[in-house]
Amino acid sequence: MNRHLISAGDLSRDDAVLILDTATELASVAGRPIKKLPTLRGMTVVNLFYEDSTRTRTSFEAAAKRLSADVINFSAKGSSVAKGESLKDTALTLEAMGADAIVIRHPASGAPRLLANWITGRVVNAGDGTHEHPTQALLDAFTMRERLVPVEDQRGQGLDGVRVTIVGDVLHSRVARSNVLLLTTLGAEVTVVAPPTLMPHAIGTWPCRASYDLDAELRKSDVVMMLRVQQERMTAAYFPTVRESRRRSGLDTERLAVRPEHASGMHPGPMNRGVEIAAEVADSPRSTIVAQVANGVTVRMAVLYLMLGGAGEETA
Ligand code: CP
Repeated sequence: MNRHLISAGDLSRDDAVLILDTATELASVAGRPIKKLPTLRGMTVVNLFYEDSTRTRTSFEAAAKRLSADVINFSAKGSSVAKGESLKDTALTLEAMGADAIVIRHPASGAPRLLANWITGRVVNAGDGTHEHPTQALLDAFTMRERLVPVEDQRGQGLDGVRVTIVGDVLHSRVARSNVLLLTTLGAEVTVVAPPTLMPHAIGTWPCRASYDLDAELRKSDVVMMLRVQQERMTAAYFPTVRESRRRSGLDTERLAVRPEHASGMHPGPMNRGVEIAAEVADSPRSTIVAQVANGVTVRMAVLYLMLGGAGEETA
């Protein structure tokens, strides 16, 4: 394993499969009355969040606690960041308090990579701007493997030949970029679908297909991953109305009906119900949204275990 987890593109296939296999083993802890392992006793994990989060922050906290680490939750709101303290000084302050790993979410793309140059502990990217969200991609890949590969065959397996379609606001999505990088490393065939205004200009350099025709892609997808329309990052009018966005790129019950019987519907959350995904689709038995959240804890346990306490050679 690498010293830090900044980009899904830094993971080799062996690294990624090792994380998924470790998460499968750790999943059994979630079913126990006492959900704790002593693995990271005496270690401290800092959640350094400069941007709002529900799923990622709480699941990293649960994951670290289930491995018996001490957890410090730092939110930029209400801290000395409001007095002008820099990211570097904030991180060095937290490291001086004994942080072995810093899990960082930041609105600026590249902030985790900078942080890794400043501290001696490990850095995990929990989402940076529109750049990457590698542990989201890992939990998504884990959820796909859980759904599509029989349990007895999962160990050592990637997602070879699985057809994944990622739909929506690709332009502003760190989840899309990390998923494309990780899923292709694991052997999946990935297509991104977006209206022209929400497709990145550099999409030709991504290791995936790009399409503007959602209905054509749905019929041949094993997995459809809907992306949140990120209004807070939009600096212009990217679509005329919410109704138009829903018509072109939304997953509703009619579109659900044309998909293969086994196909599942994913969303990283938080969702805009009625915009990129209809409420009936989000709540349908073919939706994996709740399973993705549960799997987020075990996958993040695996990441912390391998980076701080577990097996694996350090390569960077
Ligand atoms: N999927 C995700 O990153 O959700 P949060 O913003 O709630 O952490």
